[in-house]
Amino acid sequence: MDQQAILKAADELALKIHTREGSGHDYWHVKRVEGLSAKIALQEKACTFTIRLAACLHDLDDYKTGGDEENLPQAKEFLEHQGFSEDKTQNILDIIRSVSFRGAGVNDKTNSIEAAILQDADRLDATGAIGVARTFAFGGNKNRPIYDPAVKPVCHTSYGAYKNSTAPTINHFYEKLLLLKDRMNTETARRMAEERHRFMEDFLVQFYAEWQEATENKSIKSNSK
Ligand code: ADP
Ligand code: NI
Repeated sequence: MDQQAILKAADELALKIHTREGSGHDYWHVKRVEGLSAKIALQEKACTFTIRLAACLHDLDDYKTGGDEENLPQAKEFLEHQGFSEDKTQNILDIIRSVSFRGAGVNDKTNSIEAAILQDADRLDATGAIGVARTFAFGGNKNRPIYDPAVKPVCHTSYGAYKNSTAPTINHFYEKLLLLKDRMNTETARRMAEERHRFMEDFLVQFYAEWQEATENKSIKSNSK
């Protein structure tokens, strides 16, 4: 099997599917996740090829972009077309299936080192400055307000509730992003998450300070609850 040729084909498919995606799941998200997962795999002595390939395919069938994340038809078709055995195809599809965050109160433990690493890489790309940028891109793409002090964050206890949330974008920091640092699977990713986590905390401090400055005059009333 020509691994380089397969990775090139997977890259081309990702480029085709994710180009001009506007909710933070664009082609460069895929490339960053591939790069981060390869970095972690080297440190953790895992199979770089399988992880890079799964990274290239991981968001092709994502629900957020209208895909079927149970059956992963586009990833499956690609792997079959490349001549992977049924076992190896299922192995890679299982890695992809276990990546997603499913709500603050939902168990999302992975059961292989490859899945653990890909999950870590995808989550690193959800944090830090890039995480902030992606999150507001997502909110704008779904017509969400950036913040509403009357709408409090919640702890989702099912994937359905998490997926159907229409809360303002700031809530996502409490419902997912700030939780990721302590949910990393590998030591390597845990270390990489620290500075990104601090950046998000600093961002929120500045955000509320500016909000307060703009709204502290009591004669500026809001009709929102
Ligand atoms: P996954 O774990 O499969 O990558 P998520 O649903 O947690 O999936 O979403 C990935 C990224 O999309 C998040 O890190 C965030 O940037 C954005 N996103 C998802 N849901 C929301 C939301 N409700 N509000 C704002 N951004 C969101
Ligand atoms: Ni992703």
